Amino acid sequence: MKIAKSPATATANHERDRRARAAIAAALFCAFALYIAWHASHESQTRPIDELPMSTARGDDTSIPNADVDKSDLIKRGAYLTRVGDCAACHTADPGRPFAGGRSISTPFGKIYTPNITPDPDTGIGQWSDTDFVRALHEGIGKAGERLYPAFPYVEFTRMTEQDMLAIRAYLNTLAPVHYRPPANELRFPFNQRWLMIVWNLFNFNEGRFVPDPKQSPQYNRGAYLVEGLAHCEACHTPRNFMQGLKTTERFSGATQAGWQAYNITPDRTSGIGNWSDDALIAYLSTGIAAGHASAAGPMADVVQHSTQYLKYEDLRSIVAYLRALPPVSGGVTRPRDAWGMPAADDITSLRGTAVTTVSGLQLFAVNCASCHRWTGEGVGGNVLGALPSLIHNSVVGAPSPDNLAMVILHGVRRQTKDSDMLMPAFADELNNEQVAAISNYVTKRFGNPQATLTADQVAALRAQPQ
Ligand code: HEC
Ligand code: HEC
Ligand code: HEC
Repeated sequence: MKIAKSPATATANHERDRRARAAIAAALFCAFALYIAWHASHESQTRPIDELPMSTARGDDTSIPNADVDKSDLIKRGAYLTRVGDCAACHTADPGRPFAGGRSISTPFGKIYTPNITPDPDTGIGQWSDTDFVRALHEGIGKAGERLYPAFPYVEFTRMTEQDMLAIRAYLNTLAPVHYRPPANELRFPFNQRWLMIVWNLFNFNEGRFVPDPKQSPQYNRGAYLVEGLAHCEACHTPRNFMQGLKTTERFSGATQAGWQAYNITPDRTSGIGNWSDDALIAYLSTGIAAGHASAAGPMADVVQHSTQYLKYEDLRSIVAYLRALPPVSGGVTRPRDAWGMPAADDITSLRGTAVTTVSGLQLFAVNCASCHRWTGEGVGGNVLGALPSLIHNSVVGAPSPDNLAMVILHGVRRQTKDSDMLMPAFADELNNEQVAAISNYVTKRFGNPQATLTADQVAALRAQPQ
């Protein structure tokens, strides 16, 4: 039975609704005003690059296109820039369908599948105008005006010149169209509401082209243009706030990416890469190995394989010049990651005649790792390209966090470059969490940073990270 409302209650309800509507309208108005104010303040800081002469803007005046430039040069430049931006890495799920998307990107809010960016008219971006394309990369807005998610690094790409974007577009237009529709995103409510990105952008997105610093060298400016923009190094190396926006106060000081630590790459001498030579940094970015410092595994192996190995020497030098000039950020450690360890001398003799147990780190190391890294940890062939690497003076083994070591044991290393094809097998199926923890603890104690210890539960959490 329905109970009729008294006229007094109806009026009170009506009044409450009216007040609620007024409050919502006022809140929306405030948000809008805040949005306008925010934009106004940001616009005054960043002068659009399109007003600047291109040579100044790009910090590189060797390959500027002009009206009568040969189209094939434009496409070649576009192909190069597409590598710098590492577009293929995210937009390729199946190597047989390059740039057709479908690769899943895990975020704390669910899974996003990358779109098809081949020129297919139905499933790709064949029907996009150049303006649509530039708007997506500069503003994070899709063809239908929808907000794009920042798993697409438009927060960095916005720094890029329009000319460079159009070169990329010219190259993408030459790709074979692939008719493939990637799966729909699997995002939880409310993150599946694209319009919410308006609020996110308000706090975390600073739209605007790169503005060169006239006090710095052209080399520095070119490096800044690449690192802050197209090469989007910050997407992994800068820590994020609770909204997953970049923390602008601790730029390049290290962050976690799918369970991997993307280390501090500021010039701090103990927490960053201040003790690396320029040549070591260039070797790392172009081959994945810097002797006596580090080799690239996990997401960084992909960056080297798909992007930085193809960079011109001058561009690598510029990137290094820029990284060197960043404000150093101290992580509070006392010794650089790559300055730990000495060869194990006598461990192996202590094994003779002892019963094999399942969780002795030393025994597990001898059985699973020593064939390649030697029981002394020194590897085979020195810490150079193509060698089986030494675990001593290796940033993963000396890092204050053992996470990357556990990830390397679980997932192995795969890095293909022009010069070599590095392969370390994955042990995720062979070793349980307790065994991975035991090996990791043995390796850090014996060859690296003994404070970096790991429990089986921590390994379980790392194992659960989608790759
Ligand atoms: C770190 C991964 C990543 C990289 C690198 C990346 N993208 Fe994307 N891109 C994405 C994701 C994820 C989306 C989808 C965002 C969404 O659905 O809101 C996307 C969306 C796009 C879109 C919009 C397509 C559509 O149908 O809405 C374009 C265009 C695009 N990317 C081009 C590029 C280009 C060009 C590059 C290289 C310069 C690039 N992307 C590099 C992850 C990436
Ligand atoms: C997709 C995420 C990602 C991107 C993008 C990325 N990095 Fe990395 N980077 C990592 C991870 C993860 C590591 C640790 C690799 C390892 O443990 O072997 C790393 C390691 C490094 C190291 C070695 C640090 C050390 O002490 O071992 C350098 C140098 C570096 N990155 C520079 C760069 C530069 C320069 C860029 C931009 C051109 C870049 N990275 C872009 C994830 C990334
Ligand atoms: C079949 C040979 C082989 C075996 C077995 C092997 N590794 Fe490796 N390991 C490699 C190769 C190759 C690399 C990659 C070298 C490079 O990146 O240039 C590597 C790299 C590493 C790195 C450096 C990763 C980085 O990002 O710097 C560590 C740490 C490591 N291995 C530990 C282990 C441990 C622990 C085991 C045993 C569970 C093991 N490896 C078993 C061949 C092997």
